Formats: sequence, C-alpha cells, structure tokens
Amino acid sequence: MKIGIFDSGIGGLTVFKEISKALPSFEIIYLGDTARLPYGIKSKRTIDRYSINNVKLLKSLDCKIIVIACNTASSYSTNLLKSKFKIPIFDVISAGVKAALKDNPKILGVIGTDSTINSMAYNKMILNNNSNIKVYTKACSIFVPIIEQGLIKKKHYDKIIEENLKFFKNKNLNGLILGCTHYPIIKRKIKDYLGDDISLIDSSLEVSATLKKYLEINYPNEFTKRKSKRSILLTDKSNYFDSVIKKIFNKLDFNIKLIDIK
Ligand code: DGL
Repeated sequence: MKIGIFDSGIGGLTVFKEISKALPSFEIIYLGDTARLPYGIKSKRTIDRYSINNVKLLKSLDCKIIVIACNTASSYSTNLLKSKFKIPIFDVISAGVKAALKDNPKILGVIGTDSTINSMAYNKMILNNNSNIKVYTKACSIFVPIIEQGLIKKKHYDKIIEENLKFFKNKNLNGLILGCTHYPIIKRKIKDYLGDDISLIDSSLEVSATLKKYLEINYPNEFTKRKSKRSILLTDKSNYFDSVIKKIFNKLDFNIKLIDIK
C-alpha cells in the first residue's frame, strides 16, 4: 500500500518524518514541488492547478492515499482534490485545528503563508468548532525561502523573526498554530522570541495519528508487513537540499530522484 505526500518544498518533510515513524510497513512517496515553490504567495487558481498535477503524479505512481502536507494547498485545494479524485485525501489544516482545540484554548494565534492566511481557512474552521475563541493571524511567507536555504542560523534573520512575530507579543496566546509545514523546522527560533510558555502547534503529529487510525480500521493487514520503502521526489534539487534534509532527519540515506511534472 503506497501513501503519497506532497508539499511545495521541504516543509512537508516534517509530516513525512512523522508518518514514516508511525507507519513503518507502508511504502511512502514524498513529492516536493521545489521547482514551483513558493506556493504561499500564489493565487488559488495556480495552487489548484499545481495540487491537481501533484496528485495525478502520485496516483500514476500507484499511491492509494494522499496527504497534502502543505497548508497553502490544504487551505485552497482540499475540497477540489476530494471531489476530483476518488481516493482518501488527508489535509494539514483540519489536523492542525484538531490539535489546537485539545487544550480548550481561549486565544489562538496562527502563522502561515499569505495565501493560507488570506484564505481564512484556519479562522473559519476554528470558529466553526468554537465561536468563542479569539483568533489572531499573521502571514509570514518570508520564513519559507529562508528555511529552504537553511539560513535560519544566521544572526541577521533574528530581526526578520522579530519583525514578523512581534504582533503576537502581549496577545496572551494559549497556543500558536504553525500553519505552514516549513515552520516546525524553526520552532526553536520562534520559541526563543515568543518565550517557552507558548505552545506551538504542529499539525504533523495529528495528521499522522489521524491517518494511522484510518488505516488501522481499513487496512489492518498492512501493519503486519515488513518495513517498507521511502522515496523522495523533487521537481528541482538545490544546493541547500542535502544540508536541510540532514537537519530534519540527521541522515541522508534516502532514495532522492528528480522528476518533471507535466
Ligand atoms: N509548506 C507550505 C505550507 O505549508 C508552503 C510553503 C510555500 O510557500 O511554498 O503552506
């Protein structure tokens, strides 16, 4: 049983990592559409088109289940993908909201790309569940290229973190949703600025738990198989890729292939 996961770049690898841990016997293909990154400043029309291309590609490789490991694509294209492709599709926005609501928060912050924040997908889903929660959102698209290039350790980027996150100071947040799969990679930096008390909500654990539950019910026999293959497909491989992947996984032993999406 093959599971296909996609994101615009390396961000979704944070989801791939959790799903790989939770589901060792399932074959997993990760698609990072690095040639067309960033998605987060593009329109719904374009993101829908890219998302359809990505699912078509993963389906052509025999993936039977899709995980949209990109908040931007999840916020704009989940419904479209679900209606177009008759296979199970999991998204990171519902997972992030589910995780955020567990502690009964009163005030939540959400950071994400411009497209994710403009779509209001988080606000709508949170308020549909509990209309008493106060939600503050802030677009931080600029974090994505910095993370993709592995530059976050450089001191002068602290200023960019501060400029983008100072809006949340004194908002008494109970939690901050990391509404972009790239952001867990800079969790430490975000905590250094906002303080250790604030809980950072990362949808990767929740989406892998939801997926696991679904598979336990629908494909119980697949769990008894031996450890299965993982592959990473990229539409472009930059010089930074190896160092960033090493930072996420502490190793580099993946089967990484370049692929064109038509
Ligand atoms: N990682 C993607 C997300 O979760 C977006 C990054 C991008 O702008 O392409 O939204």
